[in-house]
Amino acid sequence: MTTRKILVTSALPYANGSIHLGHLVEYIQTDIWARFQKMCGHEVYYVCADDTHGTPVMLRAETEGITPEQLIARVWQEHYDDFSAFHVAFDNYGSTNSAETKAYAEDIYRKLKAAKLIDVRSIEQYYDPVKNMFLPDRFIKGECPKCHAKDQYGDNCEVCGAAYAPTELINPYSAVSGAKPEMRNSDHYFFKLSDKRCQEFLRRWTKSGTLQSEAANKMQEWLGAEGENRLTDWDISRDAPYFGFEIPDAPGKYFYVWLDAPVGYMGSFKQLCNKKMLESEHGIQPALNFDEYWKPDSTAELYHFIGKDILYFHALFWPAMLENSGFRTPTKLFAHGFLTVNNEKMSKSRGTFITARSYVDHIKNTEYLRYYYASKINGTMEDLDLNLEDFVAKVNSDLIGKYINIASRTAGFVSRKFGGKLASSRQLKDANIAALLAEFTGKRAAIAQCYEERDYGRAIREIMRLADLANEYVNDKAPWVLAKQDGQDAALHEVCTISINLFRMLTLYLKPVLPKLATQVETFLNITPLTWNSAEEMLLDHQIDEYKHLMTRLDPKLIEAMVAANRESLKSESHSPARHAEAQQHATAPIAETISIEDFAKIDLRVAKIVNAEHVEGAEKLLKLTLDIGEGKTRTVFAGIKSAYDPEKLKGRLTAMVANLAPRKMKFGLSEGMVLAASGSESGLYILNPDEGAEPGMRIK
Ligand code: 2FM
Ligand code: ZN
Repeated sequence: MTTRKILVTSALPYANGSIHLGHLVEYIQTDIWARFQKMCGHEVYYVCADDTHGTPVMLRAETEGITPEQLIARVWQEHYDDFSAFHVAFDNYGSTNSAETKAYAEDIYRKLKAAKLIDVRSIEQYYDPVKNMFLPDRFIKGECPKCHAKDQYGDNCEVCGAAYAPTELINPYSAVSGAKPEMRNSDHYFFKLSDKRCQEFLRRWTKSGTLQSEAANKMQEWLGAEGENRLTDWDISRDAPYFGFEIPDAPGKYFYVWLDAPVGYMGSFKQLCNKKMLESEHGIQPALNFDEYWKPDSTAELYHFIGKDILYFHALFWPAMLENSGFRTPTKLFAHGFLTVNNEKMSKSRGTFITARSYVDHIKNTEYLRYYYASKINGTMEDLDLNLEDFVAKVNSDLIGKYINIASRTAGFVSRKFGGKLASSRQLKDANIAALLAEFTGKRAAIAQCYEERDYGRAIREIMRLADLANEYVNDKAPWVLAKQDGQDAALHEVCTISINLFRMLTLYLKPVLPKLATQVETFLNITPLTWNSAEEMLLDHQIDEYKHLMTRLDPKLIEAMVAANRESLKSESHSPARHAEAQQHATAPIAETISIEDFAKIDLRVAKIVNAEHVEGAEKLLKLTLDIGEGKTRTVFAGIKSAYDPEKLKGRLTAMVANLAPRKMKFGLSEGMVLAASGSESGLYILNPDEGAEPGMRIK
């Protein structure tokens, strides 16, 4: 086998929020992959870091009365502890606010500049005259220019889904101070993505097998047809005050957080190289060479695990930056979907916005979740659902009922009857055993392939099928019966020896998913760490330790308590699940201008029954609703509520709609009204519900 050199990363979590179960889909997925590769004997490094820069961190530190550096140091520790609790084993966990990341960000920038790929242009932007700062789009709110919904962000409307420039908002206000923003000019630095060199390179790169097919298709959409130039230049600078790295030779201008975030992959890896350098000087470790992994002639493999929401940054900006600054580009990007809980978006009010910490506090055993996620991850960009009932059922039936059960039903006899010693090969008499063992060892390559392709769900199905075979064997041989019969000791010894060996192989196959349990099993079996190549070995004539309970059943009451506690504790906190929403702090929206009762009467509000609700192909935010307001015909309304509702759950519900809003032609069809939804300073959206007894068509006054 040739040893591969592999560098793996997960997206860097923002330093302005807690790790939650949504994040963990990615970190657990990457960790399983990295552990599997390590078990195969490859040279693998898994690095990550906190993504520390940007306006939200700066403002949050200010609110807390501490420096951004203090804030990110505290959050770093929290993140690190959370990841450790879930056995996510980074080889290095750094921070983008590091000397290493700064050096590479500056180096890349200088090379892009030398290649004439940096442009400086004056742009007009909203400025908060009270806070004395330019306002990012997500820090400006106002009335949607299309549907007139109040308190919409500066880049798009959460109600009608329209995208627009912040300058188009009606009555804009600063979400930081509430002040009316002013238009001011400022010089911004742009990475010239529209340059022919970038376009041609990206067209090639995105088609070269580096992306999953769904992602490659998306890229072709973004890049447009051959000859078309759809990519626009990327604004990589922000004005002071900004928490980040100042751009070389540009006082008062800072790198936009997304410029140095992926550079954090390099910075973190460089830190690892530095550590290993020190260790190698003391003869502890061989040195690790940065260039071997990052220079264009590198033969190492580089993989980024990311969420599908940040594909744009990783499949366009990042490779274009690397290609034009003398570094290699990623071997592959592995994009995954989002987490839903009980088929809905994580929600604070339902108590399903679950932080890593709260999971640990309530459930404790984090390998339950690793197992459940693994059983559902399939290497595609589909969303993954954590169904809390199914979670309990699967953990208890698979892990306890099938896997642990094999050891717990046989190991005791080995200690009590045979002094802890497994039978020797001479003592094995059952001729039928060879086929069962061959079935187990024969699956090694297939299971390895599932892990390699990130189809962990299939790996788990294969492993559980083997666990079923092992249980059938134990049931069939009934060691508890043999133990009571005279003259059956040899048979009992053989059954227990075989069962323990089957258990060992299952542990090996599950080790990337259940690393802590595997270590406990290695201690119990008195063996060196299991590797992928040791699948075919047998433990014969071998002393094992006394069996101690390895895992307990997951009590559904713990889940109920966690959900209840989350519902309570998260009510007052701000943990926006929108992963790269810049805004985390908003002033309460000012009350709009007074209107007369006549003005109000002009709006014809009706109770509407949602007869049908469905996704709209190609629309990120919209659902297509078919509404009945008692007119003898239905109406179609496109509502920007996709982020908050599963269409299936809306069917049959009553809500409120504006019935006399002028019909509006949208990209996806004609929208004949608007449903009413509440939204606050966080990302949730809540459609209105009339009280029981209301009928479709009733007027709301
Ligand atoms: O979306 C996010 O959470 C970003 N903090 C991810 C950055 S990934 C990489 F580019 F650093
Ligand atoms: Zn709107």
